[in-house]
Formats: sequence, structure tokens, C-alpha cells
Amino acid sequence: MKVTIYGSGYVGLVTGALIADVGNEVLCVDVDEKKVANLKKGIIPIFEPGLDDVIKRNVEADRLDFTTDMDRAVAHSEVQFIAVGTPPGEDGSADMQYVAAVAKTIADRMTESKVVVNKSTVPVGTGDMVEKVIADGLAARGQSISYAVISNPEFLKEGAAIEDFMKPDRIVIGTDNEQAMEVMRELYAPFCRNRRDRLIFMSRKSSELTKYAANSLLATKISFMNELSNIADRLGADIEDVRVGIGSDPRIGYHFIYPGCGYGGSCFPKDVKALIATARENNYDAKLLSAVDSVNDSQKHVLFEKLMKHFDNDIKGKKFAVWGLSFKPNTDDLREAPSRVLIESIFEHGGTVRAYDPVAMKEMRHFYPDEKRLELVGTAQDTVDGTDALLINTEWREFRSPNLEALKSSLKRPLVIDGRNLYDPAQMVEHGFTYDCIGRPG
Ligand code: UGA
Repeated sequence: MKVTIYGSGYVGLVTGALIADVGNEVLCVDVDEKKVANLKKGIIPIFEPGLDDVIKRNVEADRLDFTTDMDRAVAHSEVQFIAVGTPPGEDGSADMQYVAAVAKTIADRMTESKVVVNKSTVPVGTGDMVEKVIADGLAARGQSISYAVISNPEFLKEGAAIEDFMKPDRIVIGTDNEQAMEVMRELYAPFCRNRRDRLIFMSRKSSELTKYAANSLLATKISFMNELSNIADRLGADIEDVRVGIGSDPRIGYHFIYPGCGYGGSCFPKDVKALIATARENNYDAKLLSAVDSVNDSQKHVLFEKLMKHFDNDIKGKKFAVWGLSFKPNTDDLREAPSRVLIESIFEHGGTVRAYDPVAMKEMRHFYPDEKRLELVGTAQDTVDGTDALLINTEWREFRSPNLEALKSSLKRPLVIDGRNLYDPAQMVEHGFTYDCIGRPG
């Protein structure tokens, strides 16, 4: 099959590369000329394990190409994926201008039937909007060409996107158009070998809402556990025992109940806020979701609050080591990362930071280009040398088993504040550390 994908960001690139990898001819489109030129040379704008290899072999096999040419993009295929960004506006609602622009691009140029597939995370009703933009565009040209607009949200996790795409839990398709259903069955067949039930068909609006429901429920689980960890902290109970105790109930399950220093990334914060905004626009006050969002905002301050407590509210002139900057391991993504809230709070209160992350250092400089109070160094051990305490934001694998003796002798004060509960509190105390983590007695 031939497929066009608008938007060469995270979703567009992963989708494009893997659809090409099973033998389709994919054209990825973006308005950013530099990005497209780089992609043609094999320079990938995001860090995603394994993605560069998949892109490279499909470009070499002539199954994957990149362009800014909209005439070529529309003419290339029947199946047109929209995977452009939907950034949050000031009130939290998703900004639809890029999705609308792609719909207009298609409407202004199409000469044959199209299946327009919305893969961006979009508010319920966006399919109707895209349909109308295309209808208006065709009417303005005096054309009558058949088309279907369908919803097909993506459920990829950054850092595990290739595996998630190749072996999906489910592929949700929102449409009542029989022909579009057939096209989707054919396109996704290689990803559902012996597992055709992976395709779940529903109405377009239900599909759009399914994406928000999934992310909001996952965010709810995390905020719930973070709230419980704060209660456990005050009671002297151990949230890790509580986690295992409740996770063993299959109705609750072990997944996504790890407490931490708050969820980040481009999806959960944005999608929870967008669903609250959609509810509000439809005269509904989403109280539970508002609480999920506000618990998360507070949780991003927990490490800093703990730090201030250990220093009697005075960190002026102190330097702190920070391990982990990305919002989670296996990505360089710093969007909504709790590390930034921590670091900015340290700066505001007169402290400085020496930080290390296995992959997000370049991205960090991009966020803080001229920040003199931020030093970025090449190894975890170099980070701690002569600093007043160590704070951990991200559970990168290489932080799991540090040389505790070396760590202790490098720190001015043997204080570790761990936002990801990486170590055994008893062992840390045995090694002479003051160890403060999330919801566990130290
Ligand atoms: C999330 C969803 O998991 C994907 O299914 C979805 O497709 C994607 O958003 C999206 O909408 O595009 P992602 O943002 O890549 O994926 O990251 P997650 O692995 O879900 O982690 C999100 C945040 O939750 C991270 O900050 C992580 O540290 C935090 N988290 C996760 C916890 O604090 N505790 C947990 O138990 C799990």
C-alpha cells in the first residue's frame, strides 16, 4: 500500500517508519524544511531506541521518503495520516490549527478518493471538523470526490515505541465507513498476525474519547499513588509494601502504580488538561481529573520540599547533584519533566546544580542555553563530587546500583533524596546515608 503521513514528530516518524518496514511505500511530510533535509540524510530529530535503524533501512530500500511538497504528499496515496502536533493553549484545550491546516491541504489538492486517518490526539469532535474542512474545500473547487475521515489514536510509549507499534495491545479505529474499515484491516494485518481481535472498531467520537480515557486513567493511577505516598510519609508506613499489597489484586494490577516525583512528558499533562477543558466546554466540571492534575503539580515540588526540610529552608550558596533529567528513562524528552521544576526551585532559592543524564544533556542545554547556575557533566559519579546532596529524578538503569562508598565520600553531606525509590532504605542507612525517598520511612 501507499501511505502519506503529515507531521514528522514522534508519532508520525514511528508510524511512518514501521508501516514502511512491513513493505508499504510511505511518504512522511513536514513543513519544517530543515527537519526534512536532515531526515533525508538520516539525522533523526528525536531519541527513540532502534528508530534510526528502521528509518535508515527503509530509506535505503526506497520504501520511506520525506518531503515538504504538499502536492506530492496528497497525490502519493489513498491513505492520508494526520500526525501533527496539538499543543495545549492557555486554557489547556488542544490547539487544532495544525490539524485543520492538513485537512485544508488535502481538500485543496485531492483528485481521487481518500481515507483521512487522524492519529494525533485530538478532542472529541475533531473528526467532524476535519470532515467539514474537506467538504468546504471540495465545494469551493466545485468537486465531488468521496472521502472518509476516521480516528485511529496511537498508544505508543516513548522509549518502547517500536515494540508497542509492532505488537499493539489494541488498534482502535473510529469509523462507520465500511471501505475505510477494509483499508485499515489491510494496513494493520501485519501487526495483528493471528491476532485480528487487536482491531477494535467503534464510532469516531468514541475512538477520540478512548485515547483521552486511557491516558487520564493512567495519570489517575499515578496521582492516586503519589497522594498515598504523601500520606504514608506522614504515617511512617511504607508505600512500596502498600504497592505490592494492592497490586496483587488483579482488579488493581501492578502496572502504573509506582509513586514518584510526578508524571511528565508530552502526553499525560496535556491530555488530562485537554479533557478537563473539553468537559468544561460541554458544561461539565471534571472534578476527579482536576484533582489528578493538581496532585501532579504538587508532586513535582515534593523533592524540593524535602530538600528544604533537610537544609532548614536555606540552600543559598549550596550546590546540588541531580541524576536524571528526562521525564522518564530511555528518552531525551524534557517536556513537563519534574527535574525542571526541581532545578528551577533550587535556582530561585539561591542554589546551583550540577546535573547528569545519559541522553538528555543536549536537550537540557536547549532549554537553559545561558544558565550559569547549571553545570552539565559527563558521568554520574563526576556529578556528585563536592556537592551538598544528591537528588534523583529519573530511574535510568545506570543509577540502580551505584558504588555507595564512592558516592558517600564524594558528597559533602551523605544525603540522597530519591524521587524514584531506587534503593533499599535500610541498606542506605547502613551505609551511612540520610536517605529520603517517596513514601518510605528512611
Ligand atoms: C503515555 C502512555 O503510556 C501511552 O500509552 C500513550 O500512547 C502516550 O502517553 C501518548 O499519549 O502518546 P509516555 O508519555 O511515553 O506514554 O510515558 P509513560 O511511560 O506512560 O510515562 C508517563 C509518566 O508517568 C512518566 O513521567 C513516568 O515517570 C510516570 N509514571 C509511570 C509514574 O510516575 N509511575 C508509574 O507507575 C508509571
